[in-house]
Amino acid sequence: MTHAPWKAVLQKTLESNLKKHKDAVFTQLATISAAGRPTVRTVVFRGFSGEASSDDLAPNATSDLLQFTTHIESTKVQEIMANPWCEVCWWLPETNEQFRFSGKAYIIPSSNHELCRAYPELDAHFQNFSGGFDWEKERLAVWKAMSPGMKASFTWPKPGAPRTAPDSGFTSKVEEGRSPEDQVTKSIENFALLIVAPDTLDHVELLKKPNERRVYVKNESSWVMEELNP
Ligand SMILES: Cc1cc2nc3c(=O)[nH]c(=O)nc-3n(C[C@H](O)[C@H](O)[C@H](O)COP(=O)(O)O)c2cc1C
Repeated sequence: MTHAPWKAVLQKTLESNLKKHKDAVFTQLATISAAGRPTVRTVVFRGFSGEASSDDLAPNATSDLLQFTTHIESTKVQEIMANPWCEVCWWLPETNEQFRFSGKAYIIPSSNHELCRAYPELDAHFQNFSGGFDWEKERLAVWKAMSPGMKASFTWPKPGAPRTAPDSGFTSKVEEGRSPEDQVTKSIENFALLIVAPDTLDHVELLKKPNERRVYVKNESSWVMEELNP
């Protein structure tokens, strides 16, 4: 894979933002509904694909794939399966920067879920790694790293459906070895990775005077950067 020149820029600025703003990982993901309308919601950036399972899978594997997580029954999953085009808009408060990624989103559910698909095109996004990437291993590694509270949220009734279950249906913690086995299994089964493979990045820096704006576009396999008016 060709190196994504914006990745080091994002990593450096995210690191400096996280020192003061723990919420710098909150991004806005826009997708397109079945009715052709834009839908947008907050999702937590969980790192680049390959980092979670890299220890045993491929020690030096890195990628330019933005990784998020979601409940497999959430509405955005249906939207992405029907139309993968999306944008991620990310404002970083400390450095007053905006990263606006455009590209395709991919859903990686449990390997035995009906929505599980092979996405061989994603392999080209990895560096220092060849062969098919083990997405189930990555998914389980990310699930393991989730807090008990987050793990519990994947056992809850279908997101977005009318609320009919009692409060007791919304367990507050799921922990391996402590919670009932069926709760742990349900959490793992409903847990999905949501991957964004960007082909464009519009990067705006408002702290700089005059402001700076760069657009990175992926052509075939290499990235081209151009400076634009802010
Ligand atoms: C601060 C914050 C962080 C959130 N992080 C996530 C997340 O990482 N993944 C997710 O699926 N939903 C997350 N949500 C909830 C979504 O914004 C959204 O309400 C939910 O996923 C349903 O969206 P949908 O109906 O478009 O699928 C977060 C909400 C807030 C307020």
